[in-house]
Amino acid sequence: MLDNKKIRKDFPMLNNNIKMQEKDLIFLDNASTTFKPSCVLDTIKCYYNFETSNSHRGDYDLCFNIDNKIAETRQILGHFINANPNEIVFTSGASMSMNLIAYGFGVKYLTKEDEVLLTQAEHASNVLPWFKVHELTGCKISYIPLTSDGRITLENVKKAITKHTKIISMAHVSNVLGYINDVKTIAKIAHEHNIIFVCDGAQSVPHMEIDVKDLDVDFLVFSGHKMCGPTGIGVLYGKYDLLEKMDPLMSGGGMNAKFDMCGDVSYLKPPERFEAGTINIEGILGLGAATKYLMNLGMSNIRRYETKLRQYLISKLENNPNVIIYNQNAEAGILTFNVKGVFAQDEATYLNSKGIAIRSGQHCAKILIDFLGVVATCRASIYFYTSKEEIDKFVDAINDGGDFLDAYFS
Ligand code: ALA
Repeated sequence: MLDNKKIRKDFPMLNNNIKMQEKDLIFLDNASTTFKPSCVLDTIKCYYNFETSNSHRGDYDLCFNIDNKIAETRQILGHFINANPNEIVFTSGASMSMNLIAYGFGVKYLTKEDEVLLTQAEHASNVLPWFKVHELTGCKISYIPLTSDGRITLENVKKAITKHTKIISMAHVSNVLGYINDVKTIAKIAHEHNIIFVCDGAQSVPHMEIDVKDLDVDFLVFSGHKMCGPTGIGVLYGKYDLLEKMDPLMSGGGMNAKFDMCGDVSYLKPPERFEAGTINIEGILGLGAATKYLMNLGMSNIRRYETKLRQYLISKLENNPNVIIYNQNAEAGILTFNVKGVFAQDEATYLNSKGIAIRSGQHCAKILIDFLGVVATCRASIYFYTSKEEIDKFVDAINDGGDFLDAYFS
């Protein structure tokens, strides 16, 4: 069981008396990014105050220390998702990881005979890199259709697969609708057809237990900043034999074994092959601290707390006839809604005037918004540090909105 009151003390952003519009801040945009606990900030500060050195580039103690800490962090991340440490590639985030797969694997192996299968619910970072693969190889991009409530069913996956499908790439959890996809079964179906299964874990890894061996996904991408870690750091997990077959997207120092004037280059083995240049050392160390922090809380405890809090939020909002909820039964802590007669951005601006941060718009999922048939939606997203009192204030603000927004009850 999580002790929410105690946990909140770990986060300076929750204790520094932060105001928005002179009101106490209530942060409900956690699908976008998350607050950082002091242990993450202390780790980063410690690196700069006491441990500054590059990695892999010096025969002195400071450098050995950092090399050890990076290796240790790879182990922590490996442990976190049940991968081998050498299957953990540090990237700048989920988008970079997805681009690495698209260019390093997709462009290398796909031809114009092949097809990549996405879904209509994907974030831009799992659509646009594949458009580039299409441009460069001529491969076809197709979409698994959603059910009328926006879900991906196994039947629709099976129906969408053709003899040309070589890659299926989809989010574990939709960043708009918060539905959890059965990626374990979908990966199994993919493998029965010799299809590579790529999983976007940006909205799942921070919120639930992930075991890549059990899910049997071929690739998994996620970002540090959505799981209490720093921005600019993320992970590409890939099965080692697949990583070995991939080309690097970026070349430079730290990723080659040797090169000569004729242009002959031999690359290091993964994961270093994909980590050209000086890597984001503060980010890696900060992500390690964040991961330890989450593991200490327990991912199943986090999941349980968020599930309960979302149910509480829905139970309070569903009685307001002016609120349209697009994902009433979603499993993750994401609520997508509109208030009747109010443009989403106006609702978000109104909530801002109450000190409440939510996201409005298309949430980078522009195919999905066409599917929903609206121009924009509001999205409130919780994390384990969100309190019941914050939810109460959010619901009260929505219910009181009529005085502020003329159109509200019209
Ligand atoms: N991917 C982030 C979101 O969904 C930015 O808000």
